[in-house]
Amino acid sequence: MRPDPELADRLKRHGQEHLLAWWDRLDATGRAQLASELSAIDLDQLDRLVAELVGEEADAAGSLAVDPERVQPIDVVRLPQTDGERIARRRAAELGADALAAGEVGVILVAGGSGTRLGFDGPKGTYPIGPVSRASLFQIHAEKIVALGRRHGRPVPLYVMTSPDNDEATRSFFESHGNFGLDRVRFFVQGQMPAVDRVTGKVLLAAPDHVALSPDGHGGTLAALAAAGPDGSPSCLEELRERGVRTLFYFQVDNPLVQIADPAYLGMHRQADAEMSFKVIERLTPDEKVGVVVMVDGVPQVIEYSDLPPVLANRRVPEGSLELWAGSIAIHVLERTFIERLVGDAKLPFHRAVKKVPFVDASGATVKPDGPNAVKFEQFIFDALPLAKRWAIVETDRPTEFEPLKNAVGPDSPETVHRRMSDLFGAWLEQAGATVPRRADGSVPFDVEISPLYALDAQELRSRLEPGFVVDGPTYLK
Ligand code: UD1
Repeated sequence: MRPDPELADRLKRHGQEHLLAWWDRLDATGRAQLASELSAIDLDQLDRLVAELVGEEADAAGSLAVDPERVQPIDVVRLPQTDGERIARRRAAELGADALAAGEVGVILVAGGSGTRLGFDGPKGTYPIGPVSRASLFQIHAEKIVALGRRHGRPVPLYVMTSPDNDEATRSFFESHGNFGLDRVRFFVQGQMPAVDRVTGKVLLAAPDHVALSPDGHGGTLAALAAAGPDGSPSCLEELRERGVRTLFYFQVDNPLVQIADPAYLGMHRQADAEMSFKVIERLTPDEKVGVVVMVDGVPQVIEYSDLPPVLANRRVPEGSLELWAGSIAIHVLERTFIERLVGDAKLPFHRAVKKVPFVDASGATVKPDGPNAVKFEQFIFDALPLAKRWAIVETDRPTEFEPLKNAVGPDSPETVHRRMSDLFGAWLEQAGATVPRRADGSVPFDVEISPLYALDAQELRSRLEPGFVVDGPTYLK
């Protein structure tokens, strides 16, 4: 059987006919798979991306195509220092709580990444990160959402974005744990983009019957939310509209400290009538691996850490601290109507990532390259910021909200996450009147963990903990 002539012709017109080189040797299943993968590629778009992001010129170009002089710090709602500021945050929290109680808030968890740096076999969300309980990242996030629903008297719907590679494993993990008690959870799958040869721009085959595909970045969340559900059922966006959800809290799977749907943050977003908001922390060193939120010619934007030229990364104010200090921790609030607008007309740009991608060569052998041989294309959700009419950038406190799991060892590893969680929960216990031992450096010497179902924050813990509680070994309250 010959390949569909229309497809063959289209590939030829775009210089990608090599993708059918092994067609004659494939069985019916292999042919069907390859044909379906090839038909899903938008070749016009790919041509544009290759012209812009692949080849010597793109390799040589600096990552940031903007004059550093035009980059300025952005206004941030700083952590409250005065009573007035504390009262303002409390007022904002009341607004946010009202939105939760009215059922106007939904949660998006992006978990489609491949988690290569962690080197863990399975979706990152299934990693057993609880310092004592070994609860998974997914369990910790889900329990927070269950607890929020109970507190505000309305279940909060959770939308989990997966990728074709981890969708099944993610769904079955939730299913085997009874969805961790969540009333409303829906999984949606993000799109994929083909990897291309970094010199020629030709699409790579991972196998004779399989294109080298990878997730299209968390910017793919927007299109995936708008895509029809199984068998033509309503998209996530349509479902959200029907449920009366107006505001979406968005976060990444890797940070167990995230304060999901933090009412004060939701409230500040609403007070600013914002379309998209960012939580930021103060960057401590010029090379910290977080995106930086800045203004460029009066327009807000994120410069990813890998694109930040040293001249900007190191720029300091006269007092000595970093001038561009606002590091994005990828915790956002987005208005549903903003997402609808983005899906309708605006398109997020694609970024290039030069990676090692195994491929089938002209002889049919699979090559495992020694160095980066391919360009992958990804969209980033934070590129929606310049398209927002209004925004709120809100500072949060690193020790209480940000310790992501990225690596197997060293910084952002299970060890650092366990330590940070134990210190945070130790501090909550102390605030609740418990006796907590400390090392000389102030850290808590035991693993300490509090299930979100026991207490969502220090205040709730105070109302539950019996007097005279003493931490004298590993402790898990659930
Ligand atoms: C990311 C941010 C960075 C931020 C930091 C905070 C990007 C490009 N950069 O860096 O600005 O300061 O987190 O921790 O995101 N994901 C998908 N689908 C994809 C790709 C990623 O769902 O196609 C999800 C992952 O599952 C993960 C998150 O997005 O939850 C972050 O991806 P990762 O590649 O680890 O980003 P970082 O480089 O750590």
